[in-house]
Amino acid sequence: MKKHNKYPNLFEPIKIGQTILKNRFVHTATVTGYGADTSPTPKLINYHQTLASNEVAMIVTELMPVHSTSIANPFLVSAYDTKNSKLFSKWASAVSDEGSHLIGQIGHVGRQQLWNPLSTPLSASAEPDPLSWTVPRKMSLSDINDVINGFIGSAQILHEAGFSGIELHGAHGYLLTQFMSPFSNKRKDSYGGSLKKRLRIIYEISHKVRDLCGEKFIIGLKMPCDEGVEGGIDKEEAEEIGRIVNNSMPIDYLCFSQGNFSPSLEDHLPDMNFPNRPFQSIHADLKLALPSIPIITVGKIESAEAAENIIKENKADLVGFSRALISDPAFVAKVKQDNESSIRPCIYCNFCWGEIHAGRGMKCIHKADRLNISNTNMIKNKPKIKNRVLIVGGGIAGMESAAKASQYFSEVNLLSNSENLGGKLQWEALLPGRSIINDEISFQKNRIRELGVKVKHCKVTPEIIFNFDPTHVVLACGASFTWPTSLTKSKTIKNIVEATYPLLDKNAELKGTAVIYDQDHTAACYATAELLASRFSRVIILTSKPTIGSKINYISMIGVFRRLLNLNIEIIPFSIPTNYEGNILTIKNPINKNINQINNVTYFTFATPKKPNNELLEPVVNAGIECTLVGDCDSPRGLAGAISDGSKITA
Ligand SMILES: Cc1cc2nc3c(=O)[nH]c(=O)nc-3n(C[C@H](O)[C@H](O)[C@H](O)COP(=O)(O)O)c2cc1C
Ligand code: SF4
Repeated sequence: MKKHNKYPNLFEPIKIGQTILKNRFVHTATVTGYGADTSPTPKLINYHQTLASNEVAMIVTELMPVHSTSIANPFLVSAYDTKNSKLFSKWASAVSDEGSHLIGQIGHVGRQQLWNPLSTPLSASAEPDPLSWTVPRKMSLSDINDVINGFIGSAQILHEAGFSGIELHGAHGYLLTQFMSPFSNKRKDSYGGSLKKRLRIIYEISHKVRDLCGEKFIIGLKMPCDEGVEGGIDKEEAEEIGRIVNNSMPIDYLCFSQGNFSPSLEDHLPDMNFPNRPFQSIHADLKLALPSIPIITVGKIESAEAAENIIKENKADLVGFSRALISDPAFVAKVKQDNESSIRPCIYCNFCWGEIHAGRGMKCIHKADRLNISNTNMIKNKPKIKNRVLIVGGGIAGMESAAKASQYFSEVNLLSNSENLGGKLQWEALLPGRSIINDEISFQKNRIRELGVKVKHCKVTPEIIFNFDPTHVVLACGASFTWPTSLTKSKTIKNIVEATYPLLDKNAELKGTAVIYDQDHTAACYATAELLASRFSRVIILTSKPTIGSKINYISMIGVFRRLLNLNIEIIPFSIPTNYEGNILTIKNPINKNINQINNVTYFTFATPKKPNNELLEPVVNAGIECTLVGDCDSPRGLAGAISDGSKITA
């Protein structure tokens, strides 16, 4: 077979167990929330079929419960339930018909029964879960036997349905980790104590599955390379586990991950603040120590080039992707076709994870819409309606709408008030830890350029709009922070965007205390606090709520708190500013009405609910031109809303 000219190692087939995979790309297990009533749905099957038709060699499903005591949410698909057998067959063939392999990730949540208060949490011991403090019941031998049978029965059902294999979910602190780890397993019987005994549950499951499902059935294990907690599995222990597994269990591959349901949870889903491939060096060391078992490495692998180097340098055998494939399910096909510039980049915001943990179906800020995976040439060459569409606003909502409009209409113009495209995201990308946002802006800019959208930078007035004689106007002018209602208006106090711009080009240390009044609760607000901490000796965040960050998913919030605490940034809850004069900021508690003062405040700014910049709507509508409002200009919601509003543009 001819080698891929750019990425010969990534597109080299590999044998896992007795199965040949066509390349090294793996979709690692990803809960989608697309299931319903504990069964797979067409939406879930389509998602994996799309990945398979876009060259992903092996697709690991999402965590599928093996037992009724593990149904954290009914959108998780029950692997143990024969009612799903027919749908499992459909699912497996949807993937195998495209030349890919479907692996069912099976597991039990154990004490992390976070979503279902009615079910009894079970675990190796009665130790509370360190994140939620859920106290489980210590499993009896009969409970253990039941769960082992659940794993075995589930594997048999998936095998009969045509799945290529299973992956035992032994990572992220779920039940199998709870047994594996001395951090959570305090048993003194045959399932606890020595490492061998802690691994016994996996030993029994894997051998029985091999006996019943045969040699050809892939059995994988996702396991921690480092739990990130004191007394838990670290790299040395992971190496020992890998050795025991490889020497005594019929397991065909290991997929390493890190973190458990404790403050180390953020490690399993490194967000934009982490460096690229933050745990790859641990995975590479383990690969070196365990040369005879295939290793999947996963975690913020930022590009095909980085993935190619991992394989070339023998730092893993397979590369796993979850979020990059959520962001663009055609990622691998585009890499194969040398079309990487059209890949819709993941910006590691973890919005997708937040959605499923809020009990909703998985959504990317990019929505996996058809434009996302189609080819821009196809759009360019499609017959168009002869309309002149004018987009006003060069932020993300404007560019997304322009790309969408160019699918249907013959002429699309975009007017931007500012010199550069990207809107407020340009500011956000300058803040600490948020520079990856530039990838989103660049992607949008390239795409509209390729689609032939004409861009003009000028001060937009109604007259300029009318001069274009548009058949349709899309207003994407964003939104502005409103004045804090508790304060008397003043020209010297600026909102967070205006106030921080001047600080971005200066490194000089500034005197006094900086205060942010936070009615925004977004990640940008806390990145601004980090920036201020590098200039001022004291930084305070005021919020009227009991705590901050209500718009951030709880996994990324761990990192927000870690960074704020490391920088000694203070948070004052239940506080509203009522007066700022002579460097004294007066604050009021909205609950008990107590008044306090903060002295030596030399810098005070605010991030408040926004007001749409929709002043152009009236003149456009009065001139009889059809007009659509999109993004924050319609209703301020942030990035996901801005992108999703592109779908308002239809023929
Ligand atoms: C929305 C979402 C759901 C996930 N669900 C699972 C899961 O069910 N089982 C699992 O082992 N890992 C799960 N993960 C973790 C991924 O498999 C992967 O280990 C992690 O996202 C890091 O890879 P990435 O940087 O390519 O996203 C999930 C990740 C995301 C983003
Ligand atoms: S929501 Fe954010 S983290 Fe998730 S796939 Fe999309 S861009 Fe990536």
